[in-house]
Amino acid sequence: DAKSSRPGLTLLIAAPRGFCAGVDRAIEIVERALDKYGAPVYVRHEIVHNRYVVDGLRAKGAIFVEELDEVPDDAPVVFSAHGVPKAVPAEAERRKLLYVDATCPLVSKVHRQAERQLEKDRHIIFIGHEGHPEVIGTMGQVPEDGMTLVETVEDVARLPFSQDDALSFLTQTTLSVDDTRDIVEALRVRYPKIVGPKAEDICYATSNRQAAVKELAPDSDLVLVIGAPNSSNSLRLVEVAERCGTVSKLIQRADEIDPAWLEGVETVGLTAGASAPEKLVREVVAKLSEWREIDERPVLVTEEKMTFKLPRQLVD
Ligand code: F3S
Repeated sequence: DAKSSRPGLTLLIAAPRGFCAGVDRAIEIVERALDKYGAPVYVRHEIVHNRYVVDGLRAKGAIFVEELDEVPDDAPVVFSAHGVPKAVPAEAERRKLLYVDATCPLVSKVHRQAERQLEKDRHIIFIGHEGHPEVIGTMGQVPEDGMTLVETVEDVARLPFSQDDALSFLTQTTLSVDDTRDIVEALRVRYPKIVGPKAEDICYATSNRQAAVKELAPDSDLVLVIGAPNSSNSLRLVEVAERCGTVSKLIQRADEIDPAWLEGVETVGLTAGASAPEKLVREVVAKLSEWREIDERPVLVTEEKMTFKLPRQLVD
């Protein structure tokens, strides 16, 4: 029959993959806010960078906006998992808005470190990607002249500070583990007295997902990463796979897979960024099995047990 005549395809599925504890919590915050306050609940910025998740919450009554001035005075508003500059809750308080902060606790931890460095009069070098909401949020924890963004080792060479300046560094949570190590190393060489976290601030979920891709990419002919084009941690997964010498594609949904990608391919690696639901992983597996006889094999590097508490205002 047609089924048994499909050529085989080995599918290496990364574990961990998909939702992290911060994304889980942020989605639950919006759902609970909808239950408690009723629709509509406003959400400032995409709660997590995934269209499927955002559309699902929109269908339940969430309204997504980019800025606070789009939120009416009498509606509750949730701040996204990426975190917000200090000016945002300050403005919400001035307007007496009911707000719930869904900032991931691991991002909040970086915010508190930024405050501490400011108190100690240290200028902060922040390693991150310009324009990402997490970067805007973290840089907005201190006055504008308190933090300088670097994206590359070359940026470090161009910094205007001297070895005697009081400096510290912090990082975005969703960076490439390998690139960040190089940038931190360059900072320490140029500024031996710079103060920083023991490890960088890259979160457990980001490093675990990258480790799993490193494990499966060398054995794959193609690595598919499910994630949004504005999802930092997903983009890093594509880079990690490519650095192992394997072609890698970022896809949002199964229908974006071009069957031509599978020509001559015997093994596909599959993972999902921290904001991509498992449902989309199953959708991709189903799509691939329309063309090929799938032999699914998990590639497990570690088990995650992290969970975060919900904000008190949403716990009964
Ligand atoms: Fe938090 Fe890391 Fe997820 S910072 S939202 S646990 S990707």
